[in-house]
Amino acid sequence: MYARAVVATVTAFLGTAALPSPTADDVPHNISTPVVVAHRGASSYAPENTLPAIDKAAELGFPWVENDVQRTRDGELVIIHDDTLKRTTNAEEVFPDRSPWKVKDFTAAEIARLDAGSWFSPAYANTRVPTLKDYLSRLEQDHEKLLLEVKNPELYPGIEQDILKTLDNEGWLDRPHLGRLIVQSFGADSIRTVHDLRPDITTAYLGAPAADRLPEYARFSDLINPSYGKVSAAYVSAVHDVTGPHGRRLGVFVWTVDDAEAARRSAGYGVDGLITNKPDVVREALHGQ
Ligand code: G3P
Ligand code: CA
Repeated sequence: MYARAVVATVTAFLGTAALPSPTADDVPHNISTPVVVAHRGASSYAPENTLPAIDKAAELGFPWVENDVQRTRDGELVIIHDDTLKRTTNAEEVFPDRSPWKVKDFTAAEIARLDAGSWFSPAYANTRVPTLKDYLSRLEQDHEKLLLEVKNPELYPGIEQDILKTLDNEGWLDRPHLGRLIVQSFGADSIRTVHDLRPDITTAYLGAPAADRLPEYARFSDLINPSYGKVSAAYVSAVHDVTGPHGRRLGVFVWTVDDAEAARRSAGYGVDGLITNKPDVVREALHGQ
């Protein structure tokens, strides 16, 4: 029942046009169970934005993962949240004279030398910062779906084109994959660019625009994804009342929902997705399993 609800809910936003061979179970109907998305992978249990974090999400039974994509000095797309390497790698130790350790100032080869796991736990020593290419390949292997965040797009002019090229090269822009991909950003211009370049991609704007401005965002964004503290039942309803670029009602995925009370409250508001570092806690809260 849980899996069926998730499929139905996601289908409401991705639309049958983007889905492979819809079955009766895929047809949208009045399902209120939100999709659970493992934020930066299962990031409470493995180092965020790494391949083990994807594996962990899959192992826990969560098909959707969120990540953050940025670009190296020599143009490689890498999966990392902060605009510096300091917090989640040993860059300070390996490159002591390269302060402030900005992702954009390092080459892919330099970043590939870094340990992105030891900060989290010695058990993950020598885990690497993945490239987007390697990340997509592991998602495929794990049968996962991707909520891809274009992180800090203002730092990386043209990153949208680069991301689309990699997605295309790796086979993620064919019809079946479009049913398991959402591209989101805090940058409205970035999401507008993605929509203009590939209108068949499902997109999400990260933020909580005022209700009267939602129609502007609905020209290029299928979902409005606010911090959960900013939503109410009335706001979710206002978003749902607006039709998105694919002729369907806008959806709402909220973040970052890590405790049972917030999960139940957000679900009660009628949100369509919960982005969480603790997917198992959210599942337990919503389904008791
Ligand atoms: O997916 C939403 C969430 O990831 C946005 O915030 O800072 O964790 O990227 P942040
Ligand atoms: Ca993110």
